[in-house]
Amino acid sequence: MAKRAIRGEAKMADIIDGKAFAAKIRAEVKNDTEKLINEKQVNPCLAVVLVGENPASKVYVGQKSKMAAECNIKTKDFKLDSSIAQETLLKLVDELNNDSSVHGILVQLPLPKQIDERKVIDTITVEKDVDGFHAINAGRLSIGGAMLKKAFIPCTPLGSLLLLKDRVEDLRGKNAVVIGRSNIVGKPMSQLLIEESCTVTVVHSKTKNIEQVCAQADIIIAAIGRAEMIDANWLKEGAVVIDVGINRISIKKEDGSEGSKIVGDVDFESASTKASMITPVPGGVGPMTIACLLRNTVTSAYRFAGLDDPREN
Ligand code: GUN
Repeated sequence: MAKRAIRGEAKMADIIDGKAFAAKIRAEVKNDTEKLINEKQVNPCLAVVLVGENPASKVYVGQKSKMAAECNIKTKDFKLDSSIAQETLLKLVDELNNDSSVHGILVQLPLPKQIDERKVIDTITVEKDVDGFHAINAGRLSIGGAMLKKAFIPCTPLGSLLLLKDRVEDLRGKNAVVIGRSNIVGKPMSQLLIEESCTVTVVHSKTKNIEQVCAQADIIIAAIGRAEMIDANWLKEGAVVIDVGINRISIKKEDGSEGSKIVGDVDFESASTKASMITPVPGGVGPMTIACLLRNTVTSAYRFAGLDDPREN
């Protein structure tokens, strides 16, 4: 769809189709992968490490491995017991760091309590940190400019930014409010938007008058992890809404039995009456996260092969 200026008049929001956009990125990733195989005989490979039985994490890593295979990216899957000792996990990361056939290492978060997440993340070689969570990659993003080009950018904020850049004509000077301050989404998202010359405010659970702050936003990034918290009352007319939330809620099915469904941090129906554009859940940011992970993995493989990055972010 064509880019457009953010506009002021009311109408039902256009849906930003993350599923379709992610499919386009995966097609590019597949192309780049095949080129690398043909020209350098190098097959991009992602190591996927899952610790424990977190049901959501199991689903996510399953999707990541499946989508990788569809793009001809190899995966090495490791499923570890939740009681694993930190030293054992660090040893595995070290082995993967030294395995020249592996170009990207993903340790699915959250990790069990006995493990220091930061220690594990910072043990991953910076050049294989396709999640972009290593302190050095986070620092490069924070510094921006030429440093950003060397960094791996965390996949959910990157996917969200690509959707915004595809649909919003000019991000410069726009008021962007990021709801949530996590290291995985809120903080890197705010830095990416600063790099795009947005005026960025980060709000969170302790922010006073959070609704009024959000009502000033041309762009809202909702990443607070609370089901359907943000409704039309939080929005300025014509705002662009990117919903990062993935929350499972209980519902009563038509036959009266208990069921569940996935919803975002945004009340989609309500917000659609005021937003100009909005991402759905599912089918918005979620598929973009995986597509960007695969893109980062192929970029890593190109760098290890001594080639320029196949695409700019
Ligand atoms: N947990 C939630 N999101 C992510 C992600 O993007 N990467 C990893 N490794 N863990 C996560």
